[in-house]
Amino acid sequence: MEAVRDYVLEVQDLRTYFNLPEGTLKAVDGVDINIAPRQTVGVIGESGSGKSVTAQSILQIVPPPGAIQSGRIFLRGSNGSRVDLCQLNPHSREIRAIRGAEISMVFQEPMTSLSPVHTIGAQIAEAIQLHVTRDKRKVKRIALDMINRVGISNPKQRFDEYPHQLSGGMRQRAMIAMALSCSPSLLIADEPTTALDVTVQAQILELMKELQNEFGMAIMYITHDLGVIAEIADEVNVMYLGRVVERASTVELFKNPLHPYTQRLLKSIPRLGGRGRGRLDAIRGNVPVPMNPPPQCGFASRCDDFIAGKCDAAVPSLVDMGNQHFVRCYLHSEASEPIYA
Ligand SMILES: Nc1ncnc2c1ncn2[C@@H]1O[C@H](COP(=O)(O)OP(=O)(O)OP(=O)(O)O)[C@@H](O)[C@H]1O
Ligand SMILES: [Mg+2]
Repeated sequence: MEAVRDYVLEVQDLRTYFNLPEGTLKAVDGVDINIAPRQTVGVIGESGSGKSVTAQSILQIVPPPGAIQSGRIFLRGSNGSRVDLCQLNPHSREIRAIRGAEISMVFQEPMTSLSPVHTIGAQIAEAIQLHVTRDKRKVKRIALDMINRVGISNPKQRFDEYPHQLSGGMRQRAMIAMALSCSPSLLIADEPTTALDVTVQAQILELMKELQNEFGMAIMYITHDLGVIAEIADEVNVMYLGRVVERASTVELFKNPLHPYTQRLLKSIPRLGGRGRGRLDAIRGNVPVPMNPPPQCGFASRCDDFIAGKCDAAVPSLVDMGNQHFVRCYLHSEASEPIYA
């Protein structure tokens, strides 16, 4: 068993489904993820593996017809309270206070969280006003400081500019400033650098690490890019078809990948530092859509080590291989005790 730690976030057996006319799409199908204070937990997986829906579930913003079917999501608030977010009404004042003040989110496309009709300054100030202080002078001071901290030059001038007046990299910085302006205990970053060129991407990662040191927040970092994971994450969760199939410290995962899927991901890195590094679509076959999925290993149809009668007969459990290394695969499950069904 994992040692009991004082986690910021505990996601337990989360299941989030989309009930569509064609059937039930099991976007997230039994996910467990714990995040400790100041820890950066990476989530990696191909397109459609359920990374964003996991993030949306944590924030209670899953779009209909999606809904959380079961599971618990405990958040340790800055006041020490431990709240199950799934028990809160998604429209309640409580969850709205948590979004922004305790958990902030940055997305791939800044324009999904920045309004085009308000200035950068007004938007950052609004977040501070809502969650930190109503004192107008203090609000402006904190906002200007944040704009400066994220490396946007001429903060005073930028304060009065609109998002479209900024470059992509600068907009991304503005969104990070907004997300961090109320010192959240958890930042969820969903592919925040994917659309940016490699240099700007490296700058943003550096910045996030710096701000993490300064503000002490935990980060859940979602990405396709193994290079980015190696750069930023302490621990990695590899997702496939709505499930975590492997979890280990970043060093351990790169050194000793156990799941055939993870092994293939690592082999798909063409050369470090090169363009297109870590592109996950280099793996044979497409990710199936988890529509009415049969009770079997999700990777069965693409796996070179597939064992008939076993891998297609039940869903393997996530088992502890020791050294905080977990894997969900029948090639490894004989030896160890399952920890999660
Ligand atoms: N609003 C929605 N309506 C219906 N199905 C959805 C919706 N959002 C996500 N899905 C489905 O849920 C599954 C998981 O999607 P999700 O967006 O979480 O993947 P992802 O891992 O974030 O992928 P990407 O890397 O492309 O961002 C996919 O099969 C997707 O088609
Ligand atoms: Mg996504």
